[in-house]
Amino acid sequence: DWVMRDHIAEAVEAIRQQVGDEEVILGLSGGVDSSVAAALIHRAIGDQLTCVFVDHGLLRLNEGDMVMDMFVGQLHAKVIRVDASELFLGKLAGVSDPEAKRKIIGGEFVTVFKQEAAKLTSAGAKGAKWLAQGTIYPDVIESGGAKSKKAVTIKSHHNVGGLPEQLGLKLLEPLRDLFKDEVRELGVALGLPHGMVYRHPFPGPGLGVRILGEVKKEYADLLRRADAIFIEELHNFIDPASGKSWYDLTSQAFTVFLPVKSVGVMGDGRTYDYVVALRAVQTSDFMTADWAELPYALLKKVSGRIINEVRGINRVTYDVSSKPPATIEWE
Ligand code: XMP
Repeated sequence: DWVMRDHIAEAVEAIRQQVGDEEVILGLSGGVDSSVAAALIHRAIGDQLTCVFVDHGLLRLNEGDMVMDMFVGQLHAKVIRVDASELFLGKLAGVSDPEAKRKIIGGEFVTVFKQEAAKLTSAGAKGAKWLAQGTIYPDVIESGGAKSKKAVTIKSHHNVGGLPEQLGLKLLEPLRDLFKDEVRELGVALGLPHGMVYRHPFPGPGLGVRILGEVKKEYADLLRRADAIFIEELHNFIDPASGKSWYDLTSQAFTVFLPVKSVGVMGDGRTYDYVVALRAVQTSDFMTADWAELPYALLKKVSGRIINEVRGINRVTYDVSSKPPATIEWE
């Protein structure tokens, strides 16, 4: 559409004016905001942009490859993928407190990103001078407003505040004036896949807060497979009344790994395996949320598939807690 095309042309021109011939670094997470920021900046300055994608090993099934496929394979952007999964799993070994886990994941993320960024800024005259971030308008309000000064931290959020100063870089935030809906429209107009741009939100600490207690690779692998089945079936099941899929009818849906074992029976044998919980909510602002009344046929299909296809999980439960008092994530 014309409005969007004008908007892109304007934004591209503004970025070119701002950075001139200098180099830009951007931390790519696979999330909507950083992806749209990357696509827009790449449209404006091409190879002057280098994306750093820190893979903490707590992403969803095939997510890292999908990010690389899209940005390198399709957009031909420069992306440095840092496989830090062993580092993160090592730091998380033996840690089960949710806040401690969040702090470790957030802290390591910044450390790894800074190391990569430092290599790019110290490359002589051609060293990067800018750090780009996918900050959107609601983030701007939230960090300036009274909201962030809550007396009690319910969950410490994973973000990269203060990084530009620490790295001695100028800040480039091309999405600062946009609401989420506008960011999504912009993403589609820039050629990002619709499915990527309209994905449910995913927390910075990733599966780290969806594996209760200690994070282990074995748990993450089981959870990734179970969650992929749940998401696939949410896309497959269409609500006849609205014609929409249950993925689109929910605001956020995911699977949680419970590190407890329960007894089951399979064929002639007894099993003693792990449990997962399915979580699906509907909300307009994520501050309050209702659990989604998913059709039984969908729950049945998902539980049957997970138990049959993911050896190591023999029980599936559905979370029927609203926020408040429960939070959306389990940790
Ligand atoms: P809760 O669990 O607090 O989650 O009800 C509200 C929303 O925030 C997301 N969330 C996060 N997003 N970094 C993020 O970027 C985080 O550390 C984080 N923790 C929770 C959560 O997925 C839900 O959408």
